[in-house]
Amino acid sequence: MSDAAVPAAAALSAALLAYSDRAEAQLSRFLPPENQSPVELHRAMRYAVLGGGKRLRPLLVYATGHALGANLDELDAAAAAVEIIHAYSLAHDDLPAMDDDALRRGRPTCHIVFGEAIAILAGDALQALAFELLAADMRLQADAATRVEMLRVLGTACGSHGMAGGQALDLAAVGKRLDAGELERMHSHKTGALIRASVRLGALAAGCHGREELEALDRYGRCVGLAFQIRDDILDVEGESHVIGKTAGKDAANDKPTYPAIHGLVESRRLLAQLTEEAAAAANTFGSRMHELVQIAHFVATRAS
Ligand code: IPE
Ligand code: IPE
Ligand code: MG
Ligand code: MG
Ligand code: MG
Repeated sequence: MSDAAVPAAAALSAALLAYSDRAEAQLSRFLPPENQSPVELHRAMRYAVLGGGKRLRPLLVYATGHALGANLDELDAAAAAVEIIHAYSLAHDDLPAMDDDALRRGRPTCHIVFGEAIAILAGDALQALAFELLAADMRLQADAATRVEMLRVLGTACGSHGMAGGQALDLAAVGKRLDAGELERMHSHKTGALIRASVRLGALAAGCHGREELEALDRYGRCVGLAFQIRDDILDVEGESHVIGKTAGKDAANDKPTYPAIHGLVESRRLLAQLTEEAAAAANTFGSRMHELVQIAHFVATRAS
């Protein structure tokens, strides 16, 4: 694909924007108030989660679950849980021991504002909170077995076989030249796993247990998860700090193997477009019922921040 063929950013529909507003309100409700002791920790938790972010993972929970017949209030706990895990992963990702980033969502990172120790604890407490609310929220109508399965899905997605594992691969890869398979594995773990889990959690919260439906959704989640990180890598090269809300060019500065570094920008864009088509095809196996998931896939591929 030449530069001229780069598609314009796909806008989110009003319905998807409403999901993201809903996620914001639910997150604020689920997080401990910042005047509650320990105040500094609660302030850091709220800072890491609220006031920015695209809320992509909640969008996936809401869009999937709603299309499968769930009410939005049955989906709130799962939507908030995945976003809270995501926010914790960002607070830790930005630490000096990891990517050493000072800018996130256009603001100083959590450890710059609160110090490293509190940023670490905020991440720890956010991770615990995500599981707590998935276990305890009674608006989620799932039976006990489904709720346990949801806890397992989230645990696998953020543990050593998911996000944390991918982050370990990422750190071990600094300064190395990974082959295409290793790079895909790293990205599918560090970012893909939680995105894939978001779709699965939306389906489970809606009571979907059909093997074929879950498999198609899983194909979708896998493609969008990898596509999301490829776009993130491209934006690190092409984006401007004031637009992406992060320090541009940081991957090259940290000597990270990324899609543009290993495959080049043109091939990265081609792979991104291919994954987006595969994701849309998987969602379209449901007819037009999953049109919001198709929209989200296009948004992921073309987003500017
Ligand atoms: C950034 O995620 C980190 C990655 C997993 C690539 P997002 O781009 O979803 O970050 P926010 O939540 O919108 O800030
Ligand atoms: C982050 O990948 C993945 C996770 C936080 C799990 P990056 O390190 O590329 O994310 P950014 O670019 O800092 O948001
Ligand atoms: Mg990182
Ligand atoms: Mg980073
Ligand atoms: Mg990045």
